[in-house]
Amino acid sequence: MVSLLENPLRVGLQQQGMPEPQIIVIFGASGDLTWRKLVPALYKLRREGRIPAETTIVGVARREWSHDYFREQMEKGMKEAHASVPLGELWQDFSQGLFYCPGDIDNPESYQKLKTLLSELDEKRNTRGNRMFYLSVAPNFFPEAIKQLGGGGMLDDPDKHRLVIEKPFGRDLASAQSLNKVVQKYCQENQVYRIDHYLGKETVQNLLVFRFANAIFEPLWNRQFVDHVQITVAETVGVEDRAGYYEKAGALRDMLQNHLMQLYCLTAMEAPNSMDADSIRTEKVKVLQATRLADVPNLSRSAVRGQYSGGWMKGKQVPGYHDEPGVDPNSGTPTYVAMKFMVDNWRWQGVPFYLRTGKRMPKKVSEISIHFRDVPSRMFQSASQQRNANILAMRIQPNEGISLRFDVKMPGAEFRTRSVDMDFSYGSFGIQATSDAYDRLFLDCMMGDQTLFTRADEVEAAWQVVTPALSVWDAPSDPATIPRYEAGTWEPAEAELLMNQDGRNWRRL
Ligand code: BG6
Repeated sequence: MVSLLENPLRVGLQQQGMPEPQIIVIFGASGDLTWRKLVPALYKLRREGRIPAETTIVGVARREWSHDYFREQMEKGMKEAHASVPLGELWQDFSQGLFYCPGDIDNPESYQKLKTLLSELDEKRNTRGNRMFYLSVAPNFFPEAIKQLGGGGMLDDPDKHRLVIEKPFGRDLASAQSLNKVVQKYCQENQVYRIDHYLGKETVQNLLVFRFANAIFEPLWNRQFVDHVQITVAETVGVEDRAGYYEKAGALRDMLQNHLMQLYCLTAMEAPNSMDADSIRTEKVKVLQATRLADVPNLSRSAVRGQYSGGWMKGKQVPGYHDEPGVDPNSGTPTYVAMKFMVDNWRWQGVPFYLRTGKRMPKKVSEISIHFRDVPSRMFQSASQQRNANILAMRIQPNEGISLRFDVKMPGAEFRTRSVDMDFSYGSFGIQATSDAYDRLFLDCMMGDQTLFTRADEVEAAWQVVTPALSVWDAPSDPATIPRYEAGTWEPAEAELLMNQDGRNWRRL
């Protein structure tokens, strides 16, 4: 059987070689993601010479667009969202590889039409039957699209046909399990790429290198030395124009169950046997299986949600969540969530992991901080009169980097201490560490590397951890009881309490 790799020189996360020409079919191609992220990511790969010129993109959506109109829309999108990227001759060539096929997700005829177009394109563009089907549609359409593709024989060849599924994968454990069943009916696991774009971020991948390529940190990475861990993903944006989706998702489903739990897994997991996809994913599953909400009977002691009310951001007044376009004025959807996890294993027993994420926070910042235990006896006076714990902070974005906080002596006759940060910044490489991550994920998928994609059991294990909170929060309740926080401020008071009950505070970022 022919593999999709022309040059299979690749070990785990290290990409080398060039993928074979293939057709990338994007379902939901008239949506924002296609022109904002997906097509620009593929064009970036093309400019960098990392994918072959024959790479072909077919957009599928309901609107009756022509190939030319689709090309124009993508060009317009590039100019709007990526104004600094030169288009010129290379774009002209690239855009000749863009095609459009109008179709309905639930109409078998649409898939027949698509199949015919794909065969024609194989001839015309030498794509050799290689396909990636990318589902960028509303999650309720995933099962139908997979059934239609599978039923139409378009997922039959595990070496040539790949399925990419955007998040969210299910909306709870039961729906994730049932979606996995549909997927498994038509695909083998090695054909399936469940996207979590956080895994495409350089700084997230660096967690593995930082932990497992350095000898000095790993011995400290356990209950003996670590007091607790905080994981924060704060955003300044509100719901934007995504109320239709967000109203049904909320912060737990939109961010915590996927992006934050991936950061959590990479921080808490054991060293994998090797850097291949399955070894890494197996370790992530193991740590998830050992994870639980700290106090399920008293849920508010381990899980807090919140919703932003109106406030001020950068001198501008911004509306509360209830007043955002498309949001139900009585909505109970949380825009903030904080959780306290405990890990029942040898390494982490008794060490809490606090995770929080919210929209309309004062700053856009994502960070993992490891808070080390205090010294056994305080011999020096601190300049700030505060307990100065050592903190190792890994900044995911922005100002990507790593800093280590420790105490030094203040100059002068007395022995007074002060905390200082020793800093590594990705900026010092002279290249930007962050990208939208989609280029990386596309390339991995084209190369057949599943390391940065979530496996069926992993996604289910992550749902399992948050199920006790979901089952309480999904039950009908008075939306007025959801804690509020003013836009432009950090968390609701209840989330402060979650920390204070343990004698700790959220790190001010
Ligand atoms: C998406 C969420 O997955 O991630 C959005 O749906 C969120 O609500 C976004 O804004 C954040 O991604 P990033 O890469 O900007 O941190």
